[in-house]
Amino acid sequence: MTTFYVTTPIYYVNGLPHIGHSYTTIAADVLSRHKRQRGQDVLFLTGTDEHGQKVLKAAQEEGKTPQEFVDGIIPRFKDVWKRLDISYDDFIRTTESRHVETVRYFLQLLYDKGELVLGDYEGLYCVPCEVFWTEKQAEGGLCPDCRRPVERIKESNYFFKLSRHQAWLLEYIKAHPDFIRPESRRNEVLSFLEENTLSDLCVSRPKSRLSWGIPLPFSPDHVTYVWFDALINYISALGFPGNRKKFDAFWPSALHLIGKDILRQHAVIWPIMLHAAGLFPPQGIFAHGWWQVGREKMSKSRGNTVNPLDVLDEFGIDVYRYFLLRDVPFGLDGVFSRDALIKRFNGDLANDLGNLVYRTLTMSEKYADGRIPVFDRDGHRSSSGSSIVEKMDGLGAAVDTALEKIDFIAALEAIWSLIGAANKYVEETKPWNLKKAGQTEALEDFLAVMFQVLRHVALEIAPFMPQTAAKISSQIEADRVAKGEPLFPRIVEEKNS
Ligand code: MSP
Repeated sequence: MTTFYVTTPIYYVNGLPHIGHSYTTIAADVLSRHKRQRGQDVLFLTGTDEHGQKVLKAAQEEGKTPQEFVDGIIPRFKDVWKRLDISYDDFIRTTESRHVETVRYFLQLLYDKGELVLGDYEGLYCVPCEVFWTEKQAEGGLCPDCRRPVERIKESNYFFKLSRHQAWLLEYIKAHPDFIRPESRRNEVLSFLEENTLSDLCVSRPKSRLSWGIPLPFSPDHVTYVWFDALINYISALGFPGNRKKFDAFWPSALHLIGKDILRQHAVIWPIMLHAAGLFPPQGIFAHGWWQVGREKMSKSRGNTVNPLDVLDEFGIDVYRYFLLRDVPFGLDGVFSRDALIKRFNGDLANDLGNLVYRTLTMSEKYADGRIPVFDRDGHRSSSGSSIVEKMDGLGAAVDTALEKIDFIAALEAIWSLIGAANKYVEETKPWNLKKAGQTEALEDFLAVMFQVLRHVALEIAPFMPQTAAKISSQIEADRVAKGEPLFPRIVEEKNS
């Protein structure tokens, strides 16, 4: 059986997930559900990044120890994923011992190989971002990311000499065109590596400055830099190094879905860490764009986040999932707006999908006493009927190809092209005329084709809209239809004049 290992970033727990976080997680969920449906052995991993300054600060603000704080927030985090119908197989927390042990093993391994060396570090540090900047970068003494003042810090730390492996990485990326996707991001990483010599990465923090982290096994006065700790989650969840069987089964198929903000960590630091440890890189990394509010990235620090649960309460889970993956190409930035969501709802969902389902059930009631005629592949039918059957037969492969490329829009367009064709088929066939003319056989075949379309549509939309797919299936699973309310009643917004 082929395996598929898909991961999301592990999220910081200094707040609950917003739309941006839910985006990566829903994308991973859709791929997982699709591959499971196709019979693959799927491992879908998500989790939380619980060490570091940000979490420590958030805990202090609430008067809690960091452990109390993270333990308190995790159930609420998991609850958001549950409400979004996320079918993860494993949830890793960086405070779990299975993770801490792997991190310590990994560090010791690199240390023994001479990859981590002690040195002096002096630099300008942004406390909230946990990033060191050069004088040039921190122009005017401000962090170029968050625009808050940086502090001058001097301390002794362990460094990882990334540049030793730079030539290897460059060659690796060139030899593996699908390693970093989309192509624009691959080119960005390639030119970065071609034009710069990687500087040494500081992989520790003195315990005196940051107590909330994993102590280095060879220097207990230091804790691990939070990114070093975090990236290792992708293999600690596989039970590395103890569970070699699981690791060997899943690691070769690993796909990391990330936002473009953390491309460098995943496409440069992480492959080099693995290579230095004698392991090979993940199969692929796909960096998507940002959800914005107006022209700004949606983020906690900007205070412009939208809570996914509010959108759910108003429109339902499936509408939310559909909108995120249908409205903006995975890889580009997009603007989250209520108007755009309502437009998709009324168009794609109410007019196209909802209408197709409802009218098919209604036609069955009107023309066949609510029966669901059995589909006959070789039935005699009009050329438009035959072309619908042909389209239906090609749908599965079209969706497979699109999702192989992580092109959600192409997958949904393939499904909607069948929905559109089937709606047109109704207009062309004019079943009411067939009924009048007593053409029973043609009418039965027409209905059978329509129900077969619904089965295919339900199957293919299931990864995107699990609840809707289940509803459609339950309406047509017996030999008689079970018609309920329309799936997506049109939303009419009152305009304020
Ligand atoms: N903890 C690190 C990741 C470590 S992975 C080994 C981190 N966490 S985070 O909580 O800040 O989440 C970052 C991820 O959330 C982004 O890479 C992206 O997947 C998602 N998003 C956060 N804001 C986003 C948008 N506004 N739009 C789209 N996705 C964004 O970084």
